[in-house]
Amino acid sequence: MPRSPLIAPSLLSADFARLAEEAQRVADADWLHFDVMDAHFVPNLTFGLPVMQAVQAVSPVPLDCHLMIEDPARWAPGYAEAGARNVTVHAEACTGDPRAVARDLRAAGSLAGLALKPGTPLEEYLDVLPEFDTLLVMTVEPGFGGQRFIAETLPKVRRARELVDTGHLTLLVEVDGGINADTIEQAAAAGADVFVAGSAVYGADDPARAIAGLRAQAAAAWQG
Ligand code: DX5
Ligand code: ZN
Repeated sequence: MPRSPLIAPSLLSADFARLAEEAQRVADADWLHFDVMDAHFVPNLTFGLPVMQAVQAVSPVPLDCHLMIEDPARWAPGYAEAGARNVTVHAEACTGDPRAVARDLRAAGSLAGLALKPGTPLEEYLDVLPEFDTLLVMTVEPGFGGQRFIAETLPKVRRARELVDTGHLTLLVEVDGGINADTIEQAAAAGADVFVAGSAVYGADDPARAIAGLRAQAAAAWQG
């Protein structure tokens, strides 16, 4: 576990016409979450590598790229080469061995992340996870911000925590979707380390305050 919960505001809920200012508004965050969607893996289209590079150049915090795209083996290393701290690909989108993608990401200088949709079992990926640095447990169906947290995904977070705590895996457990003041404590108590929050941060009047509040709530839930 990191020393304090990591909060990663999602730029998906920001004003796309002012990305530089929106990145500056969350300078107190740990990571800036960057949702890449290709209108094929998910029914929505956002931004890609050129926009990521522009944001990376002005972001006060490291980028956490979440690739909701087909053919991640082809596209993911470019985000690592551009300087992302972490690049996450979806297990369901990998046509080959996800370990090859993880190796390419690490070689390109980023952490390697594997994401699982709510219905994708963790157990199917236990043999590939030793090569990953982050596990993104989706707590909504990927594709859109502002959806309701799916509490049925929490057993997966608990199981991942257990595998890390017993030394079977070494990775950060990340949750994404519907994380807000009402849900973050459950996710933290289940064992998440990294908390993505889109609407809860960018929808707040004071994003810095929202980040501090979420971090404090998660830290308190860690203590039990
Ligand atoms: C959904 C994205 C999320 C999204 C979360 O597919 O992966 O990162 O931005 O938004 P909220 O926090 O509003 O659910
Ligand atoms: Zn995301």
